[in-house]
Amino acid sequence: MPCRIAIDGPAGSGKTTIAKLLAKTLGIFYLDTGAMYRIVGLYLEKSDVSNDEEIENKLKELKLSFSDGDFFLNGKKVGDEIRTPDVGIYASKYAKNEIVRRYLTKLQREIAENENIVVEGRDIGTVVLPDAEVKIFLVATQEARAKRRFKELTEKGVKVTYEQVLNEIKLRDKQDSERNVAPLRKAKDAILIDSTKFSIEEVVQKILEVVKEKC
Ligand code: C5P
Repeated sequence: MPCRIAIDGPAGSGKTTIAKLLAKTLGIFYLDTGAMYRIVGLYLEKSDVSNDEEIENKLKELKLSFSDGDFFLNGKKVGDEIRTPDVGIYASKYAKNEIVRRYLTKLQREIAENENIVVEGRDIGTVVLPDAEVKIFLVATQEARAKRRFKELTEKGVKVTYEQVLNEIKLRDKQDSERNVAPLRKAKDAILIDSTKFSIEEVVQKILEVVKEKC
């Protein structure tokens, strides 16, 4: 039986750091589905698509693959260009589209099928892998998440203000939780963890205990 660990939660809840550390500790794969929405969001925004038919055609042209922890778009390795707040907004904008979600959900299932893997996103426990062996839902206040995200971005050399980051988080929370298709919500059987109450290591430790029990 594979061990698939679904980690969902809002922007800046610590998902990425926790999911990566967990995958490393367990020596298993890590899949960042947010990166996939960012890649497709940036691509569609650049392509200036204005309706579903154009989106569908653009997605047919696109070749998105995943190998050794890296994504490749039409053969080219994807880098930090997808990590800006603007690209976060494009991701969230196109993540509302049913065609985009169908396309990426299928790809995510193909990658995670029969793997021991940590998959992080918004709808992994509810839609992508509803039968995942372990489901975690991470939360934290908007201010705590904005602070964390601001620190991460400035350390990477991305020029942003704290207010920009906080506004981006507020906008994405609204878009992600109010959309009709696959909105951000906790799966009934997911374990809720407030990441502001614990250190990263403590959260990882908590998840490892669940993994021990379920996998
Ligand atoms: O995780 P990250 O913040 O990079 O995700 C960017 C955006 O992609 C989110 O705000 C959300 O709109 C979208 N997303 C999604 N479903 C996922 C992962 C990300 O809708 N599974």
